[in-house]
Amino acid sequence: MTRVIFVSADGENRSEVEGLAGQQLLEVAQANGQPLEGTCEGQMACSTCHVIVDPADFPKLPRASEMEEDLLDLASHVTRTSRLACQVHLAEGLDSLTVRMPGAVRNMQGR
Ligand code: FES
Repeated sequence: MTRVIFVSADGENRSEVEGLAGQQLLEVAQANGQPLEGTCEGQMACSTCHVIVDPADFPKLPRASEMEEDLLDLASHVTRTSRLACQVHLAEGLDSLTVRMPGAVRNMQGR
């Protein structure tokens, strides 16, 4: 089992869940009620599975493919540690992987 920590866009809520090695991060998110659409179900035709990886965990992930980088360019609230959850698979070295939901809705104060 690999532990994954999902953090809400505002940082207020943390949800610690478990997934299996090899399992797609998008599947783990959706199975645990995280608000990730993943419209194309991993077919690399949307960017609605965008998550922001904790900077401490980002170097542990295999590099994103060029296609993933191109799709991330279309996502909102992209950061230097953004990834597509359909392209990230759980693995032993990723225990406690922490990812934040990108901020989809912001109020007038920008929070
Ligand atoms: S689910 Fe569409 S690119 Fe990840």
